[in-house]
Amino acid sequence: MSKVTIIGAGKYGSTTAQRIAGADLADEVVMTDIVEGLPQGLALDMNQSRPLERYRTKVVGTNDYADTAGSDVVVITAGLPRKPGMSRMDLLEVNAGIVAGVTREIMNYSENPVIIVVTNPLDQMTTLAAEASGLDRSRVMGQAGNLDTARFIHFISEAAGVDVLDVDALTLGSHGDTMVPVPSQCFVAGKPLTEVLDAETIAALVERTRNGGGEIVGLLKTGSAYYAPSSAAAKMVRAVLSDSGEQMPVCAWTTGEYGIDGVYLGVPATIGAGGVTGIVELDLTADELAALRAAAAAVQEKVDELGGLDIG
Ligand code: APR
Repeated sequence: MSKVTIIGAGKYGSTTAQRIAGADLADEVVMTDIVEGLPQGLALDMNQSRPLERYRTKVVGTNDYADTAGSDVVVITAGLPRKPGMSRMDLLEVNAGIVAGVTREIMNYSENPVIIVVTNPLDQMTTLAAEASGLDRSRVMGQAGNLDTARFIHFISEAAGVDVLDVDALTLGSHGDTMVPVPSQCFVAGKPLTEVLDAETIAALVERTRNGGGEIVGLLKTGSAYYAPSSAAAKMVRAVLSDSGEQMPVCAWTTGEYGIDGVYLGVPATIGAGGVTGIVELDLTADELAALRAAAAAVQEKVDELGGLDIG
């Protein structure tokens, strides 16, 4: 029996639960939150859509971590989302306390889960969850690259006037300011992106992708994006549960790849039942490699800030 737990039944968590259940990816999806009644009510509502949508996965809403026992995959979405004008860094201290706390609770009931972190600021929260869980670092990863890449693809398809499914793109590095677009790996209907759009247009699309989350926060006024983010997380869950070995950009623990060691960073990785089963070393240009290494240094600086926090 396969079991996925989603921590946090807010917008991101509940949409992820619905995507996983709706695609029948697991036998059971457990959704938990500190707010009483919220996960239970959402689960009841989701379960009632099963006969209409024709899927079997059952969603269990709970406030009790005992119900998460024996999870194969846990997605951590608990935390506060950004408010307009707020940076991901502003969220650091409050979300650090939440993520460390929920990770310890998960580990009280599940022996060896794969943990996928989506709570921002992403790189630090993934590092923190890895430390708090004591799991092998290959079993703890963060979601950012699938989302940034999907946003980049959307913007490229609009600018080039082509079908969104005809675009291939890749972003690496960190989520936010040090996101690293990888033009050498971007193609529009099989043609290199640089032959389809001029450098100025590509630079503008990169900038819009980098601010992709903030643009949506600004429009929504309350809360942050969750449709594309939940698709990105569900894609990772699917790869783990089906042990697919699919390659995708995830926030993974580096061990010397690209000359980067000992930091969680967005890199192309193969994902399977063990979590990150390998980091793929693509043939990047010198500029792309330099940008990736700069992103690693920036993440390391941010992770160092965690040491100064009081997170209990
Ligand atoms: N344990 C469980 N759930 C918690 C805890 C906790 N300790 N603390 C907060 N939560 C819950 C909240 O009650 C809320 O239901 O986390 C949920 C967060 O949901 P939203 O406020 O809707 O935020 P969401 O849009 O889902 O974003 C969650 O993902 O994209 C990131 O930056 C975003 O860090 C944020 C996270």
